[in-house]
Amino acid sequence: MMFQLGVNKSGDADNVSQSSSMYEQGCKSQSGEEGTSASLWKQTSVSRGAMGSPFEATRRFSKENVVGEGGYGVVYKGILINGMVVAVKKLLNNLGQAEKKFRVEMEAIGHVRHKNLVRLLGYCIEGTHRMLVYEYVDNGNLEQWLHGDTRESGVLTWEARMKVLLGIAKALAYLHEAIEPKVVHRDIKSSNILIDHDFNGKLSDFGLAKLLDSGESHINTRVMGTFGYVAPEYANTGMLNERSDIYSFGVLLLEAVTGRDPVDYNRVANEVNLVEWLKMMVGNRKAEEVVDPNLDLKPSTHALKRALLVALRCVDPVSEKRPKMSQVVRMLDTDFPYREERRNKRSRTARMDGESVSGSADMEHSAL
Ligand SMILES: Nc1ncnc2c1ncn2[C@@H]1O[C@H](COP(=O)(O)OP(=O)(O)OP(=O)(O)O)[C@@H](O)[C@H]1O
Ligand SMILES: [Mg+2]
Repeated sequence: MMFQLGVNKSGDADNVSQSSSMYEQGCKSQSGEEGTSASLWKQTSVSRGAMGSPFEATRRFSKENVVGEGGYGVVYKGILINGMVVAVKKLLNNLGQAEKKFRVEMEAIGHVRHKNLVRLLGYCIEGTHRMLVYEYVDNGNLEQWLHGDTRESGVLTWEARMKVLLGIAKALAYLHEAIEPKVVHRDIKSSNILIDHDFNGKLSDFGLAKLLDSGESHINTRVMGTFGYVAPEYANTGMLNERSDIYSFGVLLLEAVTGRDPVDYNRVANEVNLVEWLKMMVGNRKAEEVVDPNLDLKPSTHALKRALLVALRCVDPVSEKRPKMSQVVRMLDTDFPYREERRNKRSRTARMDGESVSGSADMEHSAL
């Protein structure tokens, strides 16, 4: 077995694997046979020695440890040798995937840190196998909370929904606007929004879509698989930039407000597509009727209109008209108008960049 020891961009000695025997064991294939091609077990955020082997962490990928399965692989719950609980995503074999590209992307993403992004702790390459090790987020995902059996989990309150969505907006603003090169997630959807015990939203699978971009069939599968969240210009032309994420975020916000799936064929024709239905309801001045009926405590009219307005601006069919995610953060942050007022009192010259973001100004928009 040939080894390539990972060296991270910063050259941090603690992140450089030094003991080949440990990593050799860590990258043995499931059957225990050694791989023939290059293998790499690289931890991006956890100190050397704490990680151990992803095979042992997940009890050799036993069925009982399976958390779920998505379009790109199976996710297992695992425990590292230092006791830390992790999620190990074993990607489906992807022979066409260039190893170098995978590694470059993982190293770029491994150093991205944000409270509302699921932390990538390490990754492993062995032959055609790729594994990603993430922090384990313990309170389910937004899809389960919104569409799962509510009798089991309880209903996510309006405040919790908005807290989760604001967190995701912050994570996206960070990926799009605070780092270089920017990261376009490409798969914003409720099952990729994980929730912790304090109801913080954590975006998972960031960068994975980009990583899987090389195979044509994956792009097709992907667009089909996340139907309802994909921006029209991306669906129609394949042209992608961060504004496509912003569209998907708008759909996600509408999903959280209404408790409805982005596309639901069980509904009558004019309600199948969530965005179209929403526009119709708002146009008919029926905004109050779109709130998730499962919510015991309904939001105030102001809070509802604020959320709907932000969502509708994000799903604008003209991508250039969509707000940037930093503007979305300001619009959704309920503390914002107060903070802004205070700042204005202090200095009459205080100005916000570009568009109006205060709640009252936005309320003038269209039928809202
Ligand atoms: N870090 C994590 N901590 C806890 N659970 C996770 C973690 N990552 C993923 N999961 C869970 O594992 C399951 C499968 O996730 P996976 O990402 O493979 O599929 P998906 O999100 O449904 O679709 P996609 O492949 O498009 O991302 C989901 O139920 C998700 O909530
Ligand atoms: Mg996922």
